[in-house]
Amino acid sequence: MKTTITSPLSTSATTDFLPLEGTDYVEFYVGNAKQAAHYYMSAFGFQALAYAGPETGIRDRVSYAVRQHKLIFVLTTPLKTDNPIADHIYKHGDGVKALSLRVSDATRAWEETTKRGAWSYMEPQKMQDKDGEVVLSGIHTYGDTVHLFIERKNYRGAFMPGYRPWANPHFQPTDCGLLYVDHCVGNVGWNQMNKWVSFYEQVLGFKNILSFDDKDISTEYSALMSKVMSSGNGYVKFPINEPAEGKKKSQVEEYLEFYNGEGCQHVAMATNDIIQTVTELKKRGVEFLQVPTTYYDTLLDRVGAIDEDLTPLKELGVLVDRDNEGYLLQQFTKPVEDRPTLFFEIIQRKGAVSFGKGNFKALFEAIEREQEARGNL
Ligand code: FE2
Repeated sequence: MKTTITSPLSTSATTDFLPLEGTDYVEFYVGNAKQAAHYYMSAFGFQALAYAGPETGIRDRVSYAVRQHKLIFVLTTPLKTDNPIADHIYKHGDGVKALSLRVSDATRAWEETTKRGAWSYMEPQKMQDKDGEVVLSGIHTYGDTVHLFIERKNYRGAFMPGYRPWANPHFQPTDCGLLYVDHCVGNVGWNQMNKWVSFYEQVLGFKNILSFDDKDISTEYSALMSKVMSSGNGYVKFPINEPAEGKKKSQVEEYLEFYNGEGCQHVAMATNDIIQTVTELKKRGVEFLQVPTTYYDTLLDRVGAIDEDLTPLKELGVLVDRDNEGYLLQQFTKPVEDRPTLFFEIIQRKGAVSFGKGNFKALFEAIEREQEARGNL
């Protein structure tokens, strides 16, 4: 079977029962939110945005929200052991808890999805303060990961009720050109991909826009399969990976073992200038995968003419791929925590709407070299 690309998204507004306006924020449960927030600020160029904790009336946790353009990350740590957040961190290590989606009506989003079979995580609740109100609701997805629906029509505060503005005038790192969430990938267990494809189709009204099987995505040792799910309007994309049989342990299996279950594998962040962005991130200590420089020997034969000079792409290890609509540039970090689990992708799209299939082989071989160094191949 070959990679299949379905026709452009055709769901009309009248049939889209869950119109999503995009990613609102990504919440990570981490062992030390104060230090994690500092890492995302100092290494990735986020700015301090808002803080919630005992000082704002939240007794059991602290949360730091950081922002870069439209990207908002929330880093949350429990204050005591007897707390489901502590259980999450004990089980998974640091990782993504909530992929939060902006909607115009969080009550309706919850009703539409739960009536189609979603398992409720949070019934709609209105949160208010002097700056207005935000309505939140939520459903479970793969593993212990959840989707929150966020309705913030008239909210004028820094982030949301329960938070206070947070800024440090003495520490304001310049941004790295990271703009918004392009896509978030989930790793699910053996033979679970189609179950979750059906979930996104039936419960959230998503469409399967791309599929990759193990013939597309296999190296000498490891294999995986992937299907890309897109919201009706195309603003939210969730590729779903499952492991496939290979000679040795695939990267998805390594993830499932160390994350201790299904979860978010990577968050892709868009930039308009990947050379500038990756140069800045490297300068600040972010570690990236490196493909062999031979990758660049045949690159232009494969992708045709591109606007960028090859030299900086080669120096930075930026990958390039082309589809019918244009081309894209991408680069992948190493895992950003101690367990070999969550990592980030930096992506610049120049017309391309796909996900870099032409790079999978070189990329996965680079991942395997890292797995081998960890003794996990
Ligand atoms: Fe990706």
